[in-house]
Amino acid sequence: MRPASILVVDDDALSLAALTDMLQRAGHDPVGAASGAQALETFRAGYFDAVITDLRMPRMDGLELLRKLRARDPSVPVVLVTAYGSVQTAVEAMKEGASDYVTKPFSSQEILAALGRLLDLERLRSENRELKEQIKTRYGFSGIIGRNPSMLAVFDQIRTAANSMATVLVEGESGTGKELVAKALHFNSRRSSGPFVAVSCAALAETLLESELFGHERGAFTGAVSSRPGRVEQAEGGTLFLDDADDIPLSAQVKLLRVLQERTLERLGSNRSRRVDVRVVVATKIDLRQAVADGIFREDLFYRVSVLPIRLPPLRERRSDIALLAGHFLQQFADRDSQPPLKLEPEALRGLEAYHWPGNVRELENVMERLSLTCPGPTCSCENLPPELDRRPGASGDFSVPAEPPPEGFALLDELGRIESHYIRWALARTRGNKSQAARLLGLSRTTLADHMSRLEISSDPYQ
Ligand SMILES: Nc1ncnc2c1ncn2[C@@H]1O[C@H](COP(=O)(O)OP(=O)(O)OP(=O)(O)O)[C@@H](O)[C@H]1O
Ligand SMILES: [Mg+2]
Repeated sequence: MRPASILVVDDDALSLAALTDMLQRAGHDPVGAASGAQALETFRAGYFDAVITDLRMPRMDGLELLRKLRARDPSVPVVLVTAYGSVQTAVEAMKEGASDYVTKPFSSQEILAALGRLLDLERLRSENRELKEQIKTRYGFSGIIGRNPSMLAVFDQIRTAANSMATVLVEGESGTGKELVAKALHFNSRRSSGPFVAVSCAALAETLLESELFGHERGAFTGAVSSRPGRVEQAEGGTLFLDDADDIPLSAQVKLLRVLQERTLERLGSNRSRRVDVRVVVATKIDLRQAVADGIFREDLFYRVSVLPIRLPPLRERRSDIALLAGHFLQQFADRDSQPPLKLEPEALRGLEAYHWPGNVRELENVMERLSLTCPGPTCSCENLPPELDRRPGASGDFSVPAEPPPEGFALLDELGRIESHYIRWALARTRGNKSQAARLLGLSRTTLADHMSRLEISSDPYQ
């Protein structure tokens, strides 16, 4: 427990001395007050992490003091000390806002445990308040969380692009937040009161996509029983988001180009040109230049859509945001489920930060949701993480990059040997001595692993 400043209130001088003495020995900073009035005065003058007060006192009793303290500070933890037999009063006190109570006679462990719980809770609460504030005001833009320089650059690009009509190309791996960016572009533009229409171009068959995008007239094809506007028209006055734009078939690409260049379109089965006022944002997971080179994406369309490119870096290129994002998601799921948020132990956070996140932020979000549901809390350790994230090489050992310069007499090769054998032993233990599997875990071939094992004199018996 971190040292806390504690106001102790008791009219009985002996009990007061005993309690302050005990708290002091436990490493806290207690300040004594012999009456309710004195306690209020002291409380006003200083800062206290918690208050412990006796219930039965002449003139102002513990309950009255509690009410007066609450009026000044609704959040400071207050522990009431009651005599055995006055549990009913203690229950009332809890209703009045006491944080906990202990009955006399109590052991020092009892009161320290109560205090510890309350202080942890209070610290958690204030950290959460701070975190929420920080995330909202400083570390995000329109719900996109990040403070890594690469993300700050993205925020700037969104701000600049939002109010132009130019088409924006959002590039990024799966789960990097392309759709979030598209929405931020829309909601920060003058078109924000218009519709935001998203079309997943990968999800629709080639023939369907064209009528979905550009609409059709009655009888345009079998099954077209009535005429229908397409998504482009639905986005009138707003923003059209074309996800996986590289999947748009070449025939539809020509029509899209017309929408972008001339702001007109024709529904399928009609030769009437309609004017449309839409802002287009396209997203892709692949390199569109390569798609142009491969002949699956029109070069003229590529130049049209890439006027303002925004590249979202994969999460492994902005590892410094992982803690922030993890905290944000844990808070979000805690709020949703009306639970206190989980806290990640430093070792677990290191596991998250070391992982390569092929599914990027979406994967991180999913892992945090799973943790919120499966981890008993209040903190989450490495064991609670999914196995692919548990980077502990063994029960002990920590090979994070040292902040200190190496000690005198340091020999890098010896150190490397130590690290190598640590990982090899870990892999062998994990695979019960199976060298092929261990090699795979370590990203080595079986023969290379065998070479290292003989050099380092490691046998494949995991229990050696
Ligand atoms: N920087 C971020 N801050 C907060 N949440 C984020 C961030 N980036 C992504 N997310 C969340 O991750 C999930 C995936 O984001 P999004 O759908 O925008 O990704 P995407 O790039 O469009 O993925 P895909 O290519 O698979 O369609 C969403 O739930 C989104 O809210
Ligand atoms: Mg998407």
